[in-house]
Amino acid sequence: MKPARFLLAVLLLGSIAFPGSLAAAQSPSPDEDEIWKAFVAWLNAQPDVNQIGFDRYRAKLIADGLTPAQADARLEALGKLTERHRDEIGAIYYNKLYATADQTRFTLQPNAFLVEMTKDLKPGAALDAGIGQGRNAVYLASKGWDVTGFDVAEGGLRIAEQNAARAGARIKTVKARFEDFDYGVERWDLIYFVYVDAPIVDPAFVAKVSAGLKKGGLLLIDRPFHPLDKPEPEWPAPTEQDAMNALPKAWSNLQLVRYEDTFGIGDWQQTREDREKKQLRLVRLLARKW
Ligand SMILES: C[S@@+](CC[C@H](N)C(=O)[O-])C[C@H]1O[C@@H](n2cnc3c(N)ncnc32)[C@H](O)[C@@H]1O
Repeated sequence: MKPARFLLAVLLLGSIAFPGSLAAAQSPSPDEDEIWKAFVAWLNAQPDVNQIGFDRYRAKLIADGLTPAQADARLEALGKLTERHRDEIGAIYYNKLYATADQTRFTLQPNAFLVEMTKDLKPGAALDAGIGQGRNAVYLASKGWDVTGFDVAEGGLRIAEQNAARAGARIKTVKARFEDFDYGVERWDLIYFVYVDAPIVDPAFVAKVSAGLKKGGLLLIDRPFHPLDKPEPEWPAPTEQDAMNALPKAWSNLQLVRYEDTFGIGDWQQTREDREKKQLRLVRLLARKW
């Protein structure tokens, strides 16, 4: 896997797995804080999103004088640290991605499920959770919705605002995490999670987001069922009985309007390499609060 793709898979869709040989590599016990800071400084210094990835960092460590075994041990430590600092590294990655001229990784069109599910609705207050560069928020705002979007990637927020201005629309943006955003009480006509890795089957999260919906308000989710070939910890493996309809079960406090569990090419699977790889299992849900 190309370096940047590897990092993307880690950030977007999975966790880091190291070959057994790396786990066995020996090195002096490293200072985690220093290791992390050096890696973040290197990430920030890379001009292009395609330049960031663990194998490039490994080459840099070796060029700096580490032996291959020491570099592998350093990467193994970084793998664990990346899990711990997921939001920080995610923000660096997405800020770089949205700032690059190469926007071929994801579709710039608004999400098709969102477009279809909202086309006959009276515009109201919408919340875009993980707004990215604003492709969905800008679409809804141009249809008259009052859209607020939040994201950890601040650079994405600025680009989303610019994209909205370019479309003659206005959106509000907030820097926040899924877990910390104040969803309020009966505040939103529509809350959507499109291609984001939010804790959408966690009961406490479901309760918090549901409280934020107005009566009659809609929740919309569209995303891969699980990260590529690796199930996320909070998602049961697709072969397990529990995985059947996990999403509607998690949101059974709402009225199920539409649910799809299907295969297709994801919105964030748009490079030729990705499209040729395989179809993803995708889940889409629309539910209403009563
Ligand atoms: C794959 S992109 C999807 C962006 C947008 N929803 C779309 O469909 O184009 C995932 C987005 O989630 C954001 N993100 C990652 N972790 C987050 C967190 N904990 N809280 C809020 N946003 C987060 C990223 O910065 C990124 O913009």
